Amino acid sequence: MTEKIRVAVAGAAGRMGRASIRTVAAQPDMVLVAAVGRTALVGTDAGTAAGMRPLGVAITSDLEAALTADVLVDFSPGPAAARHAAAAVPAGISPVIGGTGLSASELTDLAGLCEARGVGAVVAPNFAVGAVLMMEFARQAAPHFPRVEIIELMRSSPHAGFHFTFLISSSARWRRPACSRLMNHCSVARKITG
Ligand SMILES: NC(=O)c1ccc[n+]([C@@H]2O[C@H](COP(=O)([O-])OP(=O)(O)OC[C@H]3O[C@@H](n4cnc5c(N)ncnc54)[C@H](OP(=O)(O)O)[C@@H]3O)[C@@H](O)[C@H]2O)c1
Repeated sequence: MTEKIRVAVAGAAGRMGRASIRTVAAQPDMVLVAAVGRTALVGTDAGTAAGMRPLGVAITSDLEAALTADVLVDFSPGPAAARHAAAAVPAGISPVIGGTGLSASELTDLAGLCEARGVGAVVAPNFAVGAVLMMEFARQAAPHFPRVEIIELMRSSPHAGFHFTFLISSSARWRRPACSRLMNHCSVARKITG
């Protein structure tokens, strides 16, 4: 039998962290080996915290517990996820970051660490398949255009996926994170570079 993928979840007590725990527990080829939180539900069994059967893994505030995993699914807010990844990648653990708000420099540092260690990572501020593909296509298209315009509808303020699309398309375009001015019109937000 093939070995199961050892998964740690950070941000474990949060809404997305608990959903991740349920998802991991439902996969026949994955096993939850650590659940890392900050303060809430520390000491509680991760399965119980996630509203299911006990999994025999207590939520801990010690990131060290996650460093035996193959993959660290992280729904902590961006800066905390970046700190976690900086510890995980040198240990050969692939971060899968769903937490939003990583800065351009945190992303650059993470990419450098991953390249140096030969470890893969996923940063997806929106896990919807369509959103992930849209971001990847924006990255591929950006170098071929002199100007990038991203329009997000139906939001009163720009969404994390919007910021991230801007960041990756602009860094692909100019090979560095670009600055821009931000225009936010009630339900239509546009970020324009050029
Ligand atoms: N990628 C996606 O598709 C997607 C979808 C939804 C949300 N998100 C993003 O995922 C993140 C979590 O969302 P959520 O709805 O699960 O939020 P949530 O329910 O508020 O949970 C956030 C968790 O992060 C922990 N936390 C907060 N600050 C921390 C810090 N400085 N260091 C370590 N842990 C910290 C909290 O721990 P305590 O409770 O102990 O304070 C809490 O358990 C957000 O950044 C959100 O924007 C992404």
